[in-house]
Amino acid sequence: MNLISKSANPLIGSVSNELPGDKSISHRAALFAAFAEGSSRIEHFQVSGVTRPMLQALTSFGIQWSLEGETLTVEGRGISAWKNPTFPIDCGNSATTLRLLAGAIAGAGVTATLDGSYGLRRRPMDRIVDPLRKMGAVIKTTPGGIAPLTIQERAEGQKLKPLTYDLPVASAQVKSCLLLAALGAKGTTVLNEPGPSRDHTERMLSSMGVTVKSYEVEAHNTLRYMVELTPPNPLVLSPLNMSLPADPSAAAFLIVAALIVPGSTLTLKGVCLNPTRTGLLDALQAMEADITLSNQHDAGGDLVGDIKVNASELQGTEINGSLVVRMIDEFPVFAIAAAVAHGSTVVHDAKELRLKESDRIAMLAAELRILGVEIEEHSDGFTILGGNLQGGIVESHGDHRLAMSLAVAGLAAESPVTVQHAECTSESFPAFAALLQKLGASITTER
Ligand code: S3P
Repeated sequence: MNLISKSANPLIGSVSNELPGDKSISHRAALFAAFAEGSSRIEHFQVSGVTRPMLQALTSFGIQWSLEGETLTVEGRGISAWKNPTFPIDCGNSATTLRLLAGAIAGAGVTATLDGSYGLRRRPMDRIVDPLRKMGAVIKTTPGGIAPLTIQERAEGQKLKPLTYDLPVASAQVKSCLLLAALGAKGTTVLNEPGPSRDHTERMLSSMGVTVKSYEVEAHNTLRYMVELTPPNPLVLSPLNMSLPADPSAAAFLIVAALIVPGSTLTLKGVCLNPTRTGLLDALQAMEADITLSNQHDAGGDLVGDIKVNASELQGTEINGSLVVRMIDEFPVFAIAAAVAHGSTVVHDAKELRLKESDRIAMLAAELRILGVEIEEHSDGFTILGGNLQGGIVESHGDHRLAMSLAVAGLAAESPVTVQHAECTSESFPAFAALLQKLGASITTER
């Protein structure tokens, strides 16, 4: 499927339930509910290409769940009720599914093989395998430390060891994997991260009755982000009853679209504004974007609110350090904002982008050059000189966020942009094109 977008009308309107529920919280809600004892009800669950493998995996472990529209019900019977699946688990293209499940499987003490798409098999798994092994988990990997990987059941009554560990990179997937494994250990696990990665796991496990402490420490003039988890004894987790906020990483495409299409004004309601997820808003405000937040309130332990965006004349900026972690999924669409801004935008400290659904530094550079954008690649980021955005035929490389970002570029480009192999948009935002159309954008699909 191709997506074809071109500059036309301003984007005008107000969006609430049409934005998908948050992807990170959806994955966690489904999985953590399967550890709880009792029935969990999760409203505004993200029903998409990346959350389906998580749900299917739960079935393989003997967990019952049902989905009615966007309401997910999970019948948890505690960690000890998890069964060994009879087939390898296919995590599709979802690294969150694979990495979080790896920790859950180690914590539950079952045997399972985790595998996924060709794209997922190229992503590094040694970052979870090494610390899980330190906890005593027995894991077979494929040479190169990649999937498929098999985690093996432990001898009767044998628990994992609690872990004290410095994460080499800030990663919520690694942190969450280790915190889930820590539920199956006897004692307190202490993790030390170099950046403020998203903290949904900590918030949600804590709401389920687990003792989780998060704090910051300063060492050699740099901040480290600490998490300590002590499993309850006996290991009983309360079920979840929550309505999920809209995904800020999906909202990001509409925010940038409204900023770069002259005359646009959009309000996005009920979006997750957890401070570990709002780096893009800070970066855009530093570029003089007209963005205002209102109606901020706590919902289910996370900050939620409305975002109003008016089209703006953007200025170039610099991004590095902990801001990178707080906007890690938003760089593809941020690059589009940079491409229309006045002056240059410089991104550093972002080499993790090379390990996402595609090498997002190399692929952004390749595709944006096709659209006439002046972009220079660095080992850990890029520099874009804004002001020149033409049309052309570009490729998604199977990366949902790259596909949607390039389609957003077409809304402000001098001539139409065709994004090839754009079916991957359904991995995290199935209604992307339809919603933009409804707001007035010219975006069509072609098979
Ligand atoms: C996620 C964490 C991030 C992010 C991914 C979702 C999560 O990955 O890129 O889309 O839900 O924990 P890393 O933690 O590996 O940076």
